[in-house]
Amino acid sequence: MRRKLVAGNWKMNGSADSIRKLLQGIREGAAEVAAVELAVFPPFVYLGLVEQQLSDAPVAWGTQNLSEQVSGAYTGEVAGSMLLDFHCAYVLVGHSERRTLYGETDDLVARKFAAARKLGIKPVLCLGETLDEREQGVTEAVVARQLKAVLDLEGIGAFADAVIAYEPVWAIGTGRTATAQQAQDVHTFIRAQLVALDPAVAAKTRILYGGSMKAANAGELLSMADIDGGLIGGASLDAKEFLAIAKAGV
Ligand code: PGA
Repeated sequence: MRRKLVAGNWKMNGSADSIRKLLQGIREGAAEVAAVELAVFPPFVYLGLVEQQLSDAPVAWGTQNLSEQVSGAYTGEVAGSMLLDFHCAYVLVGHSERRTLYGETDDLVARKFAAARKLGIKPVLCLGETLDEREQGVTEAVVARQLKAVLDLEGIGAFADAVIAYEPVWAIGTGRTATAQQAQDVHTFIRAQLVALDPAVAAKTRILYGGSMKAANAGELLSMADIDGGLIGGASLDAKEFLAIAKAGV
């Protein structure tokens, strides 16, 4: 049985004050949803605050990005070893906003994935097609290409404790959610790619859905056989809503 993971991607939102309140709300309700693993992904600068507030709570944390480099003259970048100083368990790689707004290629995403794993930080590999790509009927080809870049570099074994997040770009922040069946179909396809290489690893890999997930649609999505949790953007900025999503996965 794969334990469900409900993760909050806070993106570039919040302030010290609002994050303190959000963390307090999550701490208060976390025990009630203990069957589900919780994680939050704050902006880098709030990592210290998050570590301090969550160190005795059943909630993991990580960041939304990391450098593929180890250290050196890379102005503005943050190395994986620095994330370890704040005891990050996870890190997002290849979020569609990184791919589309900051030009991250499949190859760069694969190198970031490798950099995280090398340090024992679990990467959450984000994949997904744009609306154009869905309409052209190339969803599977796009997702397979994004996955293959990582498989080629790191091999199937890397997925035993990594996480994949399928996030159709057209559903992110748009209020337009994939139907549970649409999501399940792509999750099945992703898992089949892994099964073909190593069924035992494929059975362990958690595949999250992301894209306008909220308490009102979480129950249906999380009841699908291959949906092992959610990567939540907007709705994760409200502790009650975030915990209600997790509750739907209990
Ligand atoms: P959303 O974002 O829940 O606001 O659609 C999800 C994500 O981008 O991870």
